[in-house]
This record gives sequence, structure tokens and C-alpha cells, in this order.
Amino acid sequence: MGQKTWGGRFSGPTDTRVEAFTESISIDQRLYRHDIRASQAHARMLAAVGLITADEAEQIVQALAEIEREIASGQMTWRTELEDIHTHIEHALITRLGDVGRKLHTARSRNDQVVTDVKLWVREAIEGIDGQVAELQRSFVRLAEREQGVILPGYTHLQRAQPVLAAHYALAYVEKFQRDRERLAEARRRVNILPLGAAALAGTSLPIDREQVRQQLGFDALASNSLDISSDRDFVLDYVYALAVIALHLSGWAEEWIIWSTTEFSFLELPDAFCTGSSIMPHKKNPDVLELIRGKSARVIAALQQLFILLKGLPLAYNRDLQEDKVALFHAHDTVEACLQVAAPLVEGSRFRREGIAARLEDGFLDATTLMEGLVEAGIPLRAAHEIVGKLVRDCEQRRCRLADLPDEILASLLPHRPDALAFLRSRLGVTQALAAFRSHASTAPSEVQQQLQSWKQRLNM
Ligand code: ARG
Repeated sequence: MGQKTWGGRFSGPTDTRVEAFTESISIDQRLYRHDIRASQAHARMLAAVGLITADEAEQIVQALAEIEREIASGQMTWRTELEDIHTHIEHALITRLGDVGRKLHTARSRNDQVVTDVKLWVREAIEGIDGQVAELQRSFVRLAEREQGVILPGYTHLQRAQPVLAAHYALAYVEKFQRDRERLAEARRRVNILPLGAAALAGTSLPIDREQVRQQLGFDALASNSLDISSDRDFVLDYVYALAVIALHLSGWAEEWIIWSTTEFSFLELPDAFCTGSSIMPHKKNPDVLELIRGKSARVIAALQQLFILLKGLPLAYNRDLQEDKVALFHAHDTVEACLQVAAPLVEGSRFRREGIAARLEDGFLDATTLMEGLVEAGIPLRAAHEIVGKLVRDCEQRRCRLADLPDEILASLLPHRPDALAFLRSRLGVTQALAAFRSHASTAPSEVQQQLQSWKQRLNM
């Protein structure tokens, strides 16, 4: 037998250019542990149904463990002519065990083998990314705690809108990352369906027991249609979609903090260890890490596109195109993993510039909406109150003053039938009072934010 597992029907050797073109070992070698775990389970099942003996299964399981150690310690030489990780491991097994090794691939195809390996890999990858996202959430919760008393201008259209607590702001990202974790959990639920046993595309005439393999590998259920199994890469899409949304959230946050750390905003002091300098301008402290988090999100979103384009025209069942799925999958995963690794400590080391923020907090009419709501509470229809405050703002702009600087008589005249009009409206003016007036559920009301902060600390085991 030659080195090819499929050499029998070929009259001559494969062109070396084809070997170089079709290989995937350079990409899929990182599946070796998963391939070995799945093969060990498969071998034990083959023995249980009598297709090989218990002793043969034991030899295979042991030899595979040795091969795993050999690969882990970097002693395996990867060879282009052995195509992929599956063939490398089988070849190493046959070199060790001869005919016993030649039995492992019974009732199996690389088509169901590769999906099984990738599913095992994705399952593990999800766990890792979920842990990292949870760590990032904890960093934002600690930021919320650290900066509890700080009030920030909240923005819409990047124009000053209403005041928000810094803690409320930080917890907004905790919520986004929680949804990311829910998406990861959903992807995990879908990934955890066992493909092995579909063989090439139609199943097998041999008496295999897929349920046994399922139990050994900890899958929740058996995939039900062999044709579907060998063509299905939905779980790769699901995972990369979840990654793309994480990248999107990270990118939006990075953009915001890049802006916030400018001299113009001066809201944030980023940690020196997470910034870089300029080779010519001695004063520079640049937010390169944030810029690269924003920039690298392009790769992840591109990987999702790449997968859609790869999969959109494929007939059932296996097609070699599918080998390209791993390029996009690994690339998206590695990128998000790398971004998360720097994101959490960057948040941890950042501080709000409290004085600078406070000094300009009364600019931009952050209290206008609360004043309007005060008029509504006093019985003025919303649209009329909106109009009144709009005119007051225009008035202020002409006088170059804030709403709180308006003369008493102007304010008192807004509610002519209320003797306490002035005190009532003044209690809504100024950013601190405006903030204290909030009361709705999920709002930036201090009591609401405090409650959310405590609940997140509990949920995140802090
Ligand atoms: N290396 C291939 C992949 O990643 C698996 C091999 C299946 N090859 C085949 N010719 N049926 O998809």
C-alpha cells in the first residue's frame, strides 16, 4: 500500500503541484486532539459491535494517545503528500500497528470525520471565547464600580443628549456582551449534535452504534440525515456569526474610546501600557490597540462573508470546497481571541478624567428634556412643553447661558397657576438634579443603576 489512503484505483502518483494545491495539513493540524478523541471513541465503538476485537481497540486507543503526545511535543513531521490531519494520524497509526491500524477507518469517511473534529474544536473554542467575554464583562463591571459617582454626557448622533451615570454607561457594554454569550450558547447547542456515523454521505452497511459514540464524545443527540451531515456547515456559520457580533461590539466601543481619549473630548486616560508613541512626535500617546481592535473586526466580518460565499452554491453532499471552511473559521476565532485578550486589561487600566468631564458637563443642555418632563408633570401637554423648552434653549443660545441661568421670572411664568413653579422647575435644572429626576425601569436613575450593578456582580460571580 502506498502512502495515499485512496491510492488503489490510481495508475500513477499524484502531481506534486496538486498535492501542494490540495493539502490542508498546514491549516487543519490544529484539529489533532479532536481527531484523536473522535478516533478513540470510534475504535471503542467498533469493538463493542464486534467489527474489531477489544484488544485491537485497546491497541488503537493507546497508539493514538502516543501519536497525540508526539504531535503535542512537535515531533510529528507534516507532509504535504499526506493531505490533512486525518491522513497523517491514520498513517502514523498504521506505521505503528500495521493491519490493526488499517481497521480504524472501518465504517467511517473523512467526510463525517472532519465535521466531527471541527464540531469538537468549535465546542472547545466557544468555551474559551465565552470565558474571555465574561472576563471583559467583569472589567466593565469594575469600571462601573470605580467610576460610580461620575456623570457623563449621553449622546445621540454624537450630540449631547441627556446625562447618564458612568456606571450606567459601562453596564451598557455588559449587556451587549451578555447577548454575545447567549449567541455563543445557542451556537454550542447547535454544534453539539453528533455527525460521526454518516460515513461518506449515505451511511454504512456495517452494524455501527452511533449512540455509543455520542455518549463517549458528550454530544447531546445524533444528527439524523447522513446526506445533510456531510454537507452541513451551519454550525460554522453560527459560531462565526456570534464572533462577528462580538467583533462589531468591540469595534464600536473602540471607536468611542478613541474619540473619548482625544484632546477635544478628554474623557478618558488610557493605560500607557496599552498605547504607543510616535517615531517623530515626542508628545504622542496613540490608541493603536483600540484602532486595531476596530480594524481587525473587518477580518471577522469578512470571514462570515467568506463562509456564505463558500457555501452558497454547493450541491449535496460533501464537496472539497468545504475544506476552505476552516481557513475562515480559525481566522475569525483567532482574531476575536486576540482582541479580547487586550480589551479586558485595557478597560481595567482606563480612568475617566473626572475634572475635565465635570468642567464641561453643564454645556449642551443635558437638562432640557428633564425640564420638559417637569412641565408635563405639571399638566402641560407634551408637544406644548417641547415647544416651550425648545424656545427657552434658543433664548439661552442668544444670551449665551444655560437653562439654569434663565431669570426667575421667565421660569415662573411657565406655570402661572402654580405658586411653587419656580422651586419646582429649578429642581429639574442642572445636570446633577436632572440625573436625580430619572425614575423609570432600566433608566440611568441612581437606584436603578445600583440595582443593576449589584445584580451583574452576582451573575458574574464577582
Ligand atoms: N481535508 C478535507 C476537509 O477538510 C477532508 C477530506 C475529505 N476529502 C475528500 N476527498 N472526501 O474537508
